[in-house]
Amino acid sequence: MHYLVTGHTGFKGAWLVLLLRSRGHTVSGLALEPLEGSLFETARLTELIEADRRVDIRDAPATTAAIREIAPDVVLHLAAQPLVRRSYLNPRETFETNVMGTFNVLEAVSMTPSVAAQVIITTDKVYRNVDQRAGYRESDPLGGDDPYSSSKAMADLLTQSWVKSFPGVPTAIARAGNVIGGGDVSPDRLLPDLLNSYSQGDPASLRYPLAVRPWQHVLDCLNGYLALSDALLAGSGRGEWNFGPGDESFVPVGEVADITARLWGDGASWNAPGGEYLHEANLLALDSAKAIQQLGWSNRLLFPRSVEWTIDWYRAVADGHDARDVSAAQIRAFGELH
Ligand SMILES: NC(=O)c1ccc[n+]([C@@H]2O[C@H](COP(=O)([O-])OP(=O)(O)OC[C@H]3O[C@@H](n4cnc5c(N)ncnc54)[C@H](O)[C@@H]3O)[C@@H](O)[C@H]2O)c1
Repeated sequence: MHYLVTGHTGFKGAWLVLLLRSRGHTVSGLALEPLEGSLFETARLTELIEADRRVDIRDAPATTAAIREIAPDVVLHLAAQPLVRRSYLNPRETFETNVMGTFNVLEAVSMTPSVAAQVIITTDKVYRNVDQRAGYRESDPLGGDDPYSSSKAMADLLTQSWVKSFPGVPTAIARAGNVIGGGDVSPDRLLPDLLNSYSQGDPASLRYPLAVRPWQHVLDCLNGYLALSDALLAGSGRGEWNFGPGDESFVPVGEVADITARLWGDGASWNAPGGEYLHEANLLALDSAKAIQQLGWSNRLLFPRSVEWTIDWYRAVADGHDARDVSAAQIRAFGELH
């Protein structure tokens, strides 16, 4: 099978390229330039990719031309402006990329006869946050207050409208939350920030040590995306799907910083200089029962294993091991878990 991953130079996209290659698939990619030090660069993914295109999905003709030329069997659309803070600084970029960029990909795919399935990646943040404790289900209303969440809810609704109005390519929407794993270089992500400080021998500064967050490993999330594309290829799987972390993975930031410091060793420590001890009120949990029951998907790396694997990855690469080899070994080990 020939897969096209949009956003393959990003964090999830790079892992997805490695995961698909480990399953014997041909992979092409369409995205902007990778960030410096990204997994895409350190694992030299260009060597593994059939067609490696730098295309801005806001450019409709260029997106259509690239996708038609690549002629993939499956499209996994991840390309996005995915950062909440940046969405406040540059809302136009966020809406144009996440909404019209998704439109351009959907339209391009509809003009590419080879495509037999497509999965559009949105997020847990698409749900209207009503502060409920129970996990959000796929049928719950969408919303989103900040520009990022709202743009992804719009992309989600746009996709739902598109497949109803222009049915043809079997399409699914995957909603997952924050993920962790080796090789993330995006700003404002806790584990990379912690490990950066620890590796330089500095104490890490935490803003909200008591804030509770979910800790799902990137491979569990991506395994869900691929369960979905497999289902589409087999004739089921259309519609919206949650791939959330398990209940056990909702853990305070300070506890994760403790585990990380202990596993990292070398006297690693952290402090909370702001004296902030606020619980996070608006945490979104997903109810993934539909994917568990109908796709046979489940999280394989429960907490704290997902954190341990992430730290192992950074430790191994810091010790001079090759990022592609370290990632490939984790993908193999992941495949052996059930
Ligand atoms: N990482 C998370 O925790 C998380 C959580 C929920 C949802 N998501 C979603 O998963 C997807 C991937 O996220 P990520 O964490 O890998 O992000 P990332 O920032 O690491 O990667 C984003 C990718 O999108 C590409 N991209 C951005 N703007 C583009 C444009 N205009 N044209 C073409 N390509 C463009 C980038 O080049 C990069 O390859 C996104 O859709 C994001 O909304 C991520």
